[in-house]
Amino acid sequence: MKVLVLPGDGIGQEVTESAVTVLKEVAPGIELAYGLIGGSAYEEAGNPLPDETITKVDACDAVLMGAVGGEKWDNLEHNLRPEAGLLRIRQVMGVYANLRPARIFRPLLVASTLKEEVIDGVDMIIVRELIGGIYFGEPRGIDRLEDGTYRGYNTLIYTTAEIERIARQAFAIALGRRKKLTSVDKANVLESSRLWRNVVDGVSKDFPDVSLEHMYVDNCAMQIIREPRQFDVVVTQNLFGDILSDEASMITGSLGMLPSASIGDKQALYEPVHGSAPDIAGKDIANPIGAILSVAMMLRYSFGMTDASRRVEDAVDRVLAKGIRTKDISYGAQEVVGTKRMTEYIVQEIREGN
Ligand code: IPM
Ligand code: MG
Repeated sequence: MKVLVLPGDGIGQEVTESAVTVLKEVAPGIELAYGLIGGSAYEEAGNPLPDETITKVDACDAVLMGAVGGEKWDNLEHNLRPEAGLLRIRQVMGVYANLRPARIFRPLLVASTLKEEVIDGVDMIIVRELIGGIYFGEPRGIDRLEDGTYRGYNTLIYTTAEIERIARQAFAIALGRRKKLTSVDKANVLESSRLWRNVVDGVSKDFPDVSLEHMYVDNCAMQIIREPRQFDVVVTQNLFGDILSDEASMITGSLGMLPSASIGDKQALYEPVHGSAPDIAGKDIANPIGAILSVAMMLRYSFGMTDASRRVEDAVDRVLAKGIRTKDISYGAQEVVGTKRMTEYIVQEIREGN
C-alpha cells in the first residue's frame, strides 16, 4: 500500500499535513512518498505536473492531494497554470469517476444558507465523469478570423465505453446505498446526452435492484435547492458534475468539510473539494476536515479498510458534536481552533473511540 502525497499550493500544504497525521494514526503500515504539483511545482520545475511526479504516480496505489492554484499563477500560459496540472494528473491516472458526497453534519445544520427543514438528513453523492466530455474533447481552440475577430470552441464528446464505465460505477455505488440513481443530462438538446441516456438505460438492466430516473440538468440544479433529500446517487458528465457538485456542497454550508475521491481502474486520487485559499494560507486557520475525510474515503475505496475509515469519520462527527470548530464553521462553536489543534482533537477522538 503506497500513497503519494501531493500537497500543492496554499492551504493544500497545511491540510494535507493534517490528513497525513490522521492516516499515520489509523494505518501506520501505509508507505508514503511526496511530490510536487500545481503552482509550487511550476516554481521548482517549470511545470505544474513535472515528469518526476508522474514517475512517482506510476509507483503508487493512491494519491492524496491538497489543492492547487493561486493568483500568482493566473496569468501563465494555459498549459502551465496549476489547474492544467490537476487536469493532467486526472488524465494520467485514468481516474474517470469523481465521487463527491454532500452529506449534512447535524451540528452544522445552521451553517447552510438553506432552511434546516429542507436540508436535515441530506445524504447524496455526485458521481461526475472526470476525464472526458467538453473538458478534453477535440477539436478545441481559439482561431483568428479574417475580419480580425475570434472564434472560440470546444467539443462535447462521449463514447459508449466512456458512458458505460461511469454508469457502472454509479450503479454499484447506489447498490451499496439507498438504491436510487439519478442520471443527469440535457438529452432534449444534446446528441451526446441522448447517447448518454441510452447507454445508462442499457447498463441499468444489469442492476435491477437500483431504481433509475433521468433528469435534465437545469431541472436538477433547481431540485437540489428545492428538495435535496430526493437524491441518493447522481451520475453526470464532466461539466455538469463540476457545476452541480459546487451547488450541492452549499447544502452543507461548509466547503471545508467535503472530501472527494477520483477512481480509475487501477489507481485513485483523493482530495478535499475546497481550493487552495491563498488568502488564508500559512495562518493555521484552514479547516482540515475535508482533507481528513478524503483519507477516510481512501481507506475505504483504495484499501478496503472500512473499519479504519469509519473510525476517522466517527471521530470527526464527535469533535463537531462537542462544538469544536475551525473559523469557517464557527457559528455556534464552543471552541474555535486552528488547523493543527483541530487535527489533534480528531486524532485524540480516534484514539479514545478505539
Ligand atoms: C474541480 C475544479 C476543477 C475542475 C478546476 C480547478 C480545473 O473546479 O475540481 O471541480 O473544473 O474540474
Ligand atoms: Mg469545480
